[in-house]
Amino acid sequence: MLHDPNRVYIFDTTLRDGEQVPGCQLTTPEKIEIAKELEALGVDIIEAGFPISSPGDFQSVVEISRAVKNPTVCALTRANRGDIDVAVQSLQYAKHPRIHTGIGASDMHIKHKFNSTREDILARAVDAVKYAKQFVEDIEFYAEDAGRADIVYLAQMVEAVIAAGATVVNIPDTNGYCLPNQYGAKIKYLKENVKNIDKAIISVHCHNDLGLATANSIAGLENGARQVEGTINGIGERAGNTSIEEVVMILKTHQNLGLHTNINARNFYEMSRMVSTQMRMPVQPNKAIVGGNAFAHSSGIHQDGFLKNRENYEIIRPEDVGFPSATIVLTARSGRHALKFHLERLGHKLDKQELDAVYKEFLTLADNKLDLNDDDLNQLVNSYQNNIQSLEKADNK
Ligand code: KIV
Ligand code: ZN
Repeated sequence: MLHDPNRVYIFDTTLRDGEQVPGCQLTTPEKIEIAKELEALGVDIIEAGFPISSPGDFQSVVEISRAVKNPTVCALTRANRGDIDVAVQSLQYAKHPRIHTGIGASDMHIKHKFNSTREDILARAVDAVKYAKQFVEDIEFYAEDAGRADIVYLAQMVEAVIAAGATVVNIPDTNGYCLPNQYGAKIKYLKENVKNIDKAIISVHCHNDLGLATANSIAGLENGARQVEGTINGIGERAGNTSIEEVVMILKTHQNLGLHTNINARNFYEMSRMVSTQMRMPVQPNKAIVGGNAFAHSSGIHQDGFLKNRENYEIIRPEDVGFPSATIVLTARSGRHALKFHLERLGHKLDKQELDAVYKEFLTLADNKLDLNDDDLNQLVNSYQNNIQSLEKADNK
């Protein structure tokens, strides 16, 4: 079968980079539950853990390998044989195993983390890939801190690990340092200058320290990467990783990019809630795609436009990501159109004069009460109607 050049592979690292977050640690049964949900979501690769790091993480990789059938199951290692041996063992039941090995590629890491030289690090990288390749066909290599690495050295490293058998080359912006145009240019350079680059898939793995993880991942894809690494809800080390839900919905929304994934986007909302609950990590209300306010319209101008035609203020339909529905939130910034909408939903049909009067009372209430509910609205209408009746009675006396 011919490889589709526009297919983007989704590599989920919620259970590895995501689980590194303090307080987000999961038990093996919880990880299995998430892994099955990720399979239903349609992710291509699940990074199940870092098996050498603890017996529990090792066991989780073993159990996830047994539990899922379609996705590739990936285990992380450092570039040394001991880590690789343990990872190989942990993947023994995986239907599609992958080893993810790598080492620092920036001078910062080479000097101040490994106290080493470029030559030595290159040799270690090649040795790790060759060694892993004896046991597993699918080898992904990560050039840690590639975002700050010298591009000529990075290209040399990428070429050498592909020659050693790497099937995927991961170019992480480990510290979330790059601007989108810089990161995109890095990927472009590798695409144009590494002579065996067509033998591997370029992967992007971006961190969110400057809030640019998703933008950088998209820049990478625009310049030839075809695998994106990320997490559900964007959780991960420090400020987090690229959000998978954001990347997928960007590709769906901007069809002119011509790229597509295998993801069932309708599962996103449920997936997000599950990860948030299991990891005890709330989703910020303004989080793109899955945040509680992602489809909530609250100002009068927006509400009026939305009620006239939802596409005025909706570039993604909530149902397309499994979100329950769009909401028109009533606050002191809301207009008559929104109030009328909610009153009609509750069965109150008011003429213009009645609506004006109730709206006036509504604003007074909304200025003093943050969360207006249906009872409040019913009460507003009832007290208006009672007032009118009292006035009519008084007039008839
Ligand atoms: O951010 C990073 O560089 C990583 C690697 C281990 C892939 O998470
Ligand atoms: Zn990372």
